[in-house]
Amino acid sequence: MNEVVLGDCIEELAKLPDASAQLIIADPPYNIGPAFGIDKEWNRSHEWIPWSKKWLTEAERVLAPGGSIFVYGIHHYQCFIQVLLYELGLDYRRQIIWNYENGWSRSTKTLATHYEPLLWFSKGEDYTYHTIREPYKSTERLKNKIIKNGKVWTPHPDGRMAGDVWQFPTLAGRRFADERVDHPTQKPLALTDRIVNHFSNPGDLVVVPFSGSGTELVSASRNGRRYWGCDIKPEYVRLATERLNSEEADPGLLDQAN
Ligand SMILES: C[S@@+](CC[C@H](N)C(=O)[O-])C[C@H]1O[C@@H](n2cnc3c(N)ncnc32)[C@H](O)[C@@H]1O
Repeated sequence: MNEVVLGDCIEELAKLPDASAQLIIADPPYNIGPAFGIDKEWNRSHEWIPWSKKWLTEAERVLAPGGSIFVYGIHHYQCFIQVLLYELGLDYRRQIIWNYENGWSRSTKTLATHYEPLLWFSKGEDYTYHTIREPYKSTERLKNKIIKNGKVWTPHPDGRMAGDVWQFPTLAGRRFADERVDHPTQKPLALTDRIVNHFSNPGDLVVVPFSGSGTELVSASRNGRRYWGCDIKPEYVRLATERLNSEEADPGLLDQAN
């Protein structure tokens, strides 16, 4: 199955078989802005939480045992998503902090935003995780012999084990002009590639309930996974389809800026 469907993800997810997805990457509306057509914050949350419960319930049904679900959010409201995931009986693995140095500030009366929380839950303990490694912070100290617990410690050729703070720049500025498309909340391919490659296996089905410009679908496709995506807006289904077609015709084209 490789498709992007137009529709409401609650209805569209309901058409997928039980336990069919090994990885779900969800980047839902964050309960800010006019998503529900109601201006007051409390009223908006009042609608957003039960709505979130509906799509998460479908996602949990579709997730296979041993599968993982990742949900992006915003610091104000991600706590509600975390509670819902616990209530659905999924297993908490980690709240990852996606940290970006190129953050922004809208007001001098508060702190500039430099991260988005990304929740990782699994269905059971038998989940897929291929260790992520990053370059060592200091290469200077690696020049000398290091003794740990009386034994000589040899650095790993691929670097130290990655932690739960992930550093990837947002797609702001000229540097990412080639990767950026016409979607207001497009995620970087480098970040989504990390999720796909380290938390699923080739051939797995990656389900993306809010596919937007198709970033997570492109990551799935170019890393040998199957994909299913859904968006409520026809222009985004078109955009995602175009990106998938470009990537499939010319692998690597979309992130030539990196
Ligand atoms: C945060 S964006 C996803 C962006 C995506 N990660 C990317 O890199 O392009 C959320 C998307 O969800 C879509 N959406 C909102 N409500 C939806 C619903 N009920 N069902 C399916 N898609 C929905 C929006 O049109 C929007 O494109």
